[in-house]
Amino acid sequence: MAETLIGSEIIKLAGIIKEKIRQGEKIHNLTIGDFDSNLFPIPSELENAIIQAYQAHETNYPEADGLLILREAIQKFLKGTLGLEYEVDEILVAGGARPLIFTIFMALIDEGDKVIFPVPSWNNNHYTHILRGKPVMLRTMAEDYFMPNASLIAPYVQEATLLALCSPLNPTGTVFSEKQLKGICELVLEENSKRSSEQKPLYVMYDQIYWTLTYGNYRHFDPVTLYPEMRPYTIYVDGISKSLAATGVRVGWSIGPRKVIQKMKSLLSHIGAWAPKPEQFATAQYFQDIQRPLNFISNLKKELLIRLEGIYQGIQSIKAKGYDVEAIEPQAGLYLTVKFGLQGAKTPDGKILRAAADVHDYLLQEAKVAIVPFYAFGDDPQSDWYRISVGTIERNTVQVIVEQLEKAIMQLQF
Ligand SMILES: Cc1ncc(COP(=O)(O)O)c(C=O)c1O
Repeated sequence: MAETLIGSEIIKLAGIIKEKIRQGEKIHNLTIGDFDSNLFPIPSELENAIIQAYQAHETNYPEADGLLILREAIQKFLKGTLGLEYEVDEILVAGGARPLIFTIFMALIDEGDKVIFPVPSWNNNHYTHILRGKPVMLRTMAEDYFMPNASLIAPYVQEATLLALCSPLNPTGTVFSEKQLKGICELVLEENSKRSSEQKPLYVMYDQIYWTLTYGNYRHFDPVTLYPEMRPYTIYVDGISKSLAATGVRVGWSIGPRKVIQKMKSLLSHIGAWAPKPEQFATAQYFQDIQRPLNFISNLKKELLIRLEGIYQGIQSIKAKGYDVEAIEPQAGLYLTVKFGLQGAKTPDGKILRAAADVHDYLLQEAKVAIVPFYAFGDDPQSDWYRISVGTIERNTVQVIVEQLEKAIMQLQF
């Protein structure tokens, strides 16, 4: 398994970019789904509470499922925001979302079990590989904003164990519409109604780590709110990494049916991937007043949207000049989905851009802009679509980035 495990393609790209920066090149690095913590610091109240928790020596083992005060705070937050009502023993805290996703796969997937997920999507291929599951990768369409429809999934649900969904989606920053998600819930409920109690049901992992970051009229929908009957089958993944710009703080949580959550807890206790106790303590304090995170998020969204809009408008203006570029209007998260239809074009030094990797290298070389091709998320190497992440750029560099992209594109021969 380990011999054939592919490392993260994004981390590989990041290595190339870091090396260029080390050699003194000025690169606009739009590849990582992270924040520059000087531009986007965590809330100061959270930072102070973390320091205070260390000073108060909250430094021994936390409870295996997370501090009760934190699970109570999460319970209150979910009820007050999404209207989801869960008991504290249906909530599991871990060191970010990743260990939770990992333990969901471990708890549910035996060798050969079918795992359905759309592509492009983030890391489901790797988790399926590690658990020796059988991946069913369903390619989504730009017209659907790269979100899967029930009709795409329907032919594969029979005997499937897990449907791994994410909204808002990494890499696209797009969300499920109510209709799309309802259709999928109906499909899952129908499939489960056919299964006997001896069989594993079809579970849904619902990764909503970006849910607080929606823009304009785009709203976040979730399975259990739409269909309460989905409750026994839905395991949510959530946390503070993105919503509080706190990727390095490492606090995430899952909510779901007690039976699955308790199995995840056992697995997690063997891995030991708990959130650090001082960070749990501080997060619990920070969430005591729901309005506090909501105010922080509102400001974070404003800043992210300025950058997303700036690049979106810039791409539209390049398109208006007749180039085969496109961008999906910002819907959520820190990502913009952009099409660079540049394959087949000839560079000034006579090279033909034959695949997405060549386009990526050309834009890195000429525009000094680093982006992630969708093939890094399981899509086709020929796909013309790319992810642009705005968590590391300053407001005033947006214009520079667009100008450099435009200049590089204009130098190509079509
Ligand atoms: C969809 C999605 N889920 C989970 C994660 C991981 O979150 P965490 O840093 O809390 O492990 C990421 C990180 O990029 C993500 O994009």
